[in-house]
Amino acid sequence: MSGTQTTYNDKVVRQFAVMTVIWGIVGMLVGVIIAAQLVWPELNIGFLHFGRLRPLHTNAVIFAFGGCALFATSYWCVQRTSCARLWGGPLVPFTFWGWQIVILLAAITLPLGITSGKEYAELEWPIDILITLVWVSYALVFFGTIATRKVSHIYVANWFFGSMILTVALLHLVNSAAMPITLLKSYSVYAGVQDAMIQWWYGHNAVGFFLTAGFLGIMYYFVPKQAGRPVYSYRLSVVHFWALIFTYMWAGPHHLHYTALPDWTQSVGMVFSLILLAPSWGGMINGIMTLSGAWHKLRDDPILKFLITSLSFYGMSTFEGPMMSIKTVNALSHYTDWTVGHVHSGALGWVAMVSIGAMYYLIPRLFGKTEMHSTKLVTTHFWIATIGTVLYIASMWIAGVMQGLMWRAVNADGTLAYSFVESVKGSYPFWAIRWLGGVLFLGGMLLMAYNMFKTMAGGKTADTTVNVPVAHHA
Ligand code: HEM
Ligand code: HEM
Repeated sequence: MSGTQTTYNDKVVRQFAVMTVIWGIVGMLVGVIIAAQLVWPELNIGFLHFGRLRPLHTNAVIFAFGGCALFATSYWCVQRTSCARLWGGPLVPFTFWGWQIVILLAAITLPLGITSGKEYAELEWPIDILITLVWVSYALVFFGTIATRKVSHIYVANWFFGSMILTVALLHLVNSAAMPITLLKSYSVYAGVQDAMIQWWYGHNAVGFFLTAGFLGIMYYFVPKQAGRPVYSYRLSVVHFWALIFTYMWAGPHHLHYTALPDWTQSVGMVFSLILLAPSWGGMINGIMTLSGAWHKLRDDPILKFLITSLSFYGMSTFEGPMMSIKTVNALSHYTDWTVGHVHSGALGWVAMVSIGAMYYLIPRLFGKTEMHSTKLVTTHFWIATIGTVLYIASMWIAGVMQGLMWRAVNADGTLAYSFVESVKGSYPFWAIRWLGGVLFLGGMLLMAYNMFKTMAGGKTADTTVNVPVAHHA
């Protein structure tokens, strides 16, 4: 059978994969610093105080670490599942360099206090325009590659990556609409409660699409690959895909319970959040069940350990989220560290772990090796990352529930039983445990960087060429 030769663009995947590890370390280091600042307030030095570093942390981990992981994995996956080289010529390196410039500009402007004040969308308007250019190029490259694919099927991972790219474009454009006053200052075009609703429509869907749909794309490609088994159920993947993307869109108001937002809107957000449990668990079940018949592989494959544990945390955080969206539960959890614990069970347990697993799969293959320099170190990384995550979220649950209960406790005469400062004092031990959890997680990332550079040393960086049989042509 004759065929055509296709050479994949692996250079850009290599660049994004290496930067995933580097930005992961930077973002988590800032996380460890702000966690320490809450325990030892004297560490708030000059302008590098908690208020300035917190948005630097969230931007670095979500957009630099998570973003680079999404670019690397989607570019790797779309080429292999389409049997086509990345489309778009110079647009491809532009997505890499443009994204790195966005990250550097964020690292300069946020500590200087230059911010639009919208959570997870803090960057000022000139950077927002650069993000738009990079993202549109990303869309052109991704969908251009799909359009020039040499197989008729579009693999389900690409559905998730594609929905992430389209939705993030929409969210960014609508939420960032602003009136520039100077080069470094703009004001949102929305006002009052409408502004809040747009912001949390953005914020929640940033979680749903940037931090979830894209990473489900990673799961759908890398779990079957690493397990050496087909996806458990294609039917389930299609059903939970449509259910997930439809439902996520309506859940944003759960961030605005008991605010000036009309009560019915809050209830809509709550109901859709409860429904969201089903499609979320559809994804988790499909990922975990892919291992059925191959459970023994979990025993000695640390990459699978990362991937499957990440799915367990995904299941846990998507059970917790719907519970927290119930108004009466949210009355206790909102403003407390319970929310921060929920965030990190998703962020560390799910997003970071699935990305780390995928990077351990990719790095040897990108540098002409069959496996990482040290598999033992990957196993060590897995255990300290898991212990770190558990310390982080368990301490935040206890601190959060304690804070919520202390704030609402009243004496027989109706006065508050505790002052706010007493709840801060009570939180210290738990903040120290969270810091320790963060140190462990960061330590794991440092091991990963060492292992990565050792694997890269003396590696080959040739692009992969494959023969695409004519019979597979669309
Ligand atoms: C079924 C899925 C989920 C639902 C229904 C859900 C629901 C919620 C609720 C009710 C809150 C608290 C809102 C508040 O009191 O202010 C929240 C906060 C948050 N969740 Fe989730 N969650 C889900 C999954 C996830 C996942 C998987 C992640 C991360 C990967 C995540 C990241 C966040 C973040 C970052 C916040 C904090 C937002 C902020 O106030 O800055 N969530 N979520
Ligand atoms: C070493 C690991 C990490 C440490 C020590 C850490 C620490 C922290 C701390 C101390 C805060 C501020 C909490 C507060 O305001 O009280 C925070 C917030 C946050 N972090 Fe992390 N973090 C880590 C990793 C990550 C990762 C990998 C992600 C995402 C992929 C992430 C996403 C976030 C988000 C979204 C918030 C804002 C939460 C909210 O507004 O409720 N973090 N982190």
